[in-house]
Amino acid sequence: MAATQMSSTRCVIWFGNPGAREKVMLAADGWHVRTVLPQQPADIGMRGGDTVVGLIDFRTSSDSELERIGKLTAEHQHMPLFAITPANDGSHATPQHPLLAACRQQFPHPPDLKELLRGLQGLSNEVPRAASDDVLDTLLGESEVMLVMRATLRKYAPVDLPVLITGETGTGKEVAAHALHRLSARGGKPFQAINCGAIPSTLIQSELFGHERGAFTGASSRRLGLFETAHNGSVFLDEIGDLPLDAQTSLLRVLQEGTIERVGSNQPIAVDVRILAATHVDLERAVEEGRFRRDLYYRLNVLRLAMPPLRKRDGDIELLSRQFLRNFRTRHPTRARGYTHEARQAMERFPWPGNVRELLNRVQRAAITAEGELISSADLELNLPADGAQLSKARSHAERETLLSCLQQSQYNISACARLMKVSRVTIYRMCRKHQLELEALR
Ligand SMILES: Nc1ncnc2c1ncn2[C@@H]1O[C@H](COP(=O)(O)OP(=O)(O)OP(=O)(O)O)[C@@H](O)[C@H]1O
Ligand SMILES: [Mg+2]
Repeated sequence: MAATQMSSTRCVIWFGNPGAREKVMLAADGWHVRTVLPQQPADIGMRGGDTVVGLIDFRTSSDSELERIGKLTAEHQHMPLFAITPANDGSHATPQHPLLAACRQQFPHPPDLKELLRGLQGLSNEVPRAASDDVLDTLLGESEVMLVMRATLRKYAPVDLPVLITGETGTGKEVAAHALHRLSARGGKPFQAINCGAIPSTLIQSELFGHERGAFTGASSRRLGLFETAHNGSVFLDEIGDLPLDAQTSLLRVLQEGTIERVGSNQPIAVDVRILAATHVDLERAVEEGRFRRDLYYRLNVLRLAMPPLRKRDGDIELLSRQFLRNFRTRHPTRARGYTHEARQAMERFPWPGNVRELLNRVQRAAITAEGELISSADLELNLPADGAQLSKARSHAERETLLSCLQQSQYNISACARLMKVSRVTIYRMCRKHQLELEALR
């Protein structure tokens, strides 16, 4: 497969000691951080084509250390300098220092880290920042776990290897796959997505690899599959755990040999695609149970991107709910312009089993139904028993009832039931196990 490494890196030389959050914020924005402790002798090596900026930490540096930093940076006159100061609010808590004046050429007042990151963007000579920014704007969130996730995504994007994206439903696995593609050198080429759980197993081979005319009844003409139409781009295989075993074998061939065979032909065709796969089921378990090929699992599981559940994203529920409402207001007339205090509290308490998708849906529905300017917890339909145990009991009961009713409607056919509930077949099996429903007995 094509080597698609980015040619240049972006590096911040941090004179001092960055905090863990500062490091992860920079990494999430695609910056490598190199720390230079002023008390230790150091040389600032620079590679042609890289973007290198200096960041002077006035919070931790003594006067004598600042002097040494001054000497080091003087050897690199062209290196842009930024300052982090104790107050970080533009006040004059930092004693006047010639180095600070040098930093102020970039910012008249010492900026906070977020402003600083925006300032750094303009300096990058890597992927145009505006473009990569747009891509990651689809994955909002400022919580630590999301910053780490975004930093990982940036690291993986340019490496031309498969990525396995894991996470609960609605956590943004598909959005992440698209971002990986767009940030990679394949970004301008096709991105083809398929939900392996939503296609009948008899059709999946033909969907993925295409078929020749007459390959099976109804195949009246040759048809290209997803892998051929995605040539030079990426294929996103959603719910990879649902891929039938024969299609798993064909997929292994793509990974090992870079070729496919259309159904009805044994002529290998070379394809150059990057495979991105997602699962919300435990693939390791599927391997143990013999439902998923171990060799394929190892091939796919090279780089792993874990999407955190919404309830673990500290502070992001508030940020996302505001943003979703703002977006909604630009497209639809609504009186709603914010949330009541108790609505915000209810959102914080709620476990969000459907994660970001559920939050988005509830906000949109509430924005339509709310009668006042502020959305209440009732508008969000979050007026549920406050007691956590009671809540999960109620949810579990509702889930069991829905599952039973859908199974009955689909005459206990798993695929039909999965389509009805808009989930994967694996999810149906998982829910049956969880609620101790014996399919054989029910049938
Ligand atoms: N961090 C985020 N910021 C903004 N929107 C998001 C974010 N994460 C997800 N979304 C939105 O939430 C919805 C669900 O995202 P997506 O389809 O990628 O989830 P998923 O993990 O693939 O879900 P499933 O497992 O059910 O397929 C989409 O509308 C997406 O745009
Ligand atoms: Mg998905």
